[in-house]
Amino acid sequence: MHPILSSLKSIFAPSPLSQITHPLLEQHHIELWLKRDDLLHPVVSGNKWRKLKYVLDHALSIGSDTLVSMGGAYSNHLHALAYVGRELGLKTIGLVRGEPGPSLTPTLIDLQQWGMELRFVSRSDYRLLRQYRDCQALPGLQAKQYWLPEGGAQAPALQGVAEIVAELDIDYDMLCVPCGTGTTLAGLISAAPPQVSVIGFAALKNAGFLINDVAAILPQQYDTWQINLDYHFGGFASTTIELMAFIEDFERQTAIELDPVYTGKMMFGLFDLIAKQQLKPGQRIIAIHTGGLQGKRGFTC
Ligand SMILES: Cc1ncc(COP(=O)(O)O)c(C=O)c1O
Repeated sequence: MHPILSSLKSIFAPSPLSQITHPLLEQHHIELWLKRDDLLHPVVSGNKWRKLKYVLDHALSIGSDTLVSMGGAYSNHLHALAYVGRELGLKTIGLVRGEPGPSLTPTLIDLQQWGMELRFVSRSDYRLLRQYRDCQALPGLQAKQYWLPEGGAQAPALQGVAEIVAELDIDYDMLCVPCGTGTTLAGLISAAPPQVSVIGFAALKNAGFLINDVAAILPQQYDTWQINLDYHFGGFASTTIELMAFIEDFERQTAIELDPVYTGKMMFGLFDLIAKQQLKPGQRIIAIHTGGLQGKRGFTC
């Protein structure tokens, strides 16, 4: 690993694994554990470090001096990238979806403070950017500029995510994770023991395409995984009163904060499946807390 990245790596200790106690879990004889990647780092939390680590290693190994990527006005990915870029002494450019509002979001203010150059892109142009996946694929990229697609969805990301599995020191029957691009899910699938089922919970509506995307990024075929499409709550970053009430209740019961975009939806889905007796009693489930709590600043309740 590149020496600058190794020095940064030393601040990332393995994240804790906490057992969740909740009356519903007791009632249905399910043991639920949460891999607290939200505690990995105050800024680069959740799946961000996992996904970025080996992508950044590649960028540094080929002598890149600028990281270019894309995301929304509350993007966890751009937030982590801007911070890490600054720590690594790399320039960062963020292509931000939509027109700038009258004031910048708290996320965009952080990006600017960490030195990221913001370029606003119309929603239609933003959609087109999604086709460029390879690190050199973005048209107009200059020498030493390195392109990261939305959410950092590149093959080397799987290696970092696999390290979550390597850190798990108890046996388990199921792994659960929220899905945006499905890259984190793919990393878990690639590393999970063969008897473990891996379930992704899609955070966006009409996310059936994720099944192909995940299969495409996986190095081989696996038949131990599925993506649940039922808990999007109206679409990406949409919420309902029911979801927000669930999150509030979960936080009260466990003292663990969830974000409404990713982990809140996954946890709601998991609890709902348990309540509907769709998960076999006696199982031990490990869910991944993928962080994203900075994005909560976009929600008023
Ligand atoms: C907090 C959080 N959780 C989960 C995800 C989904 O990850 P992936 O895009 O790898 O499916 C993201 C997006 O990257 C995220 O920001």
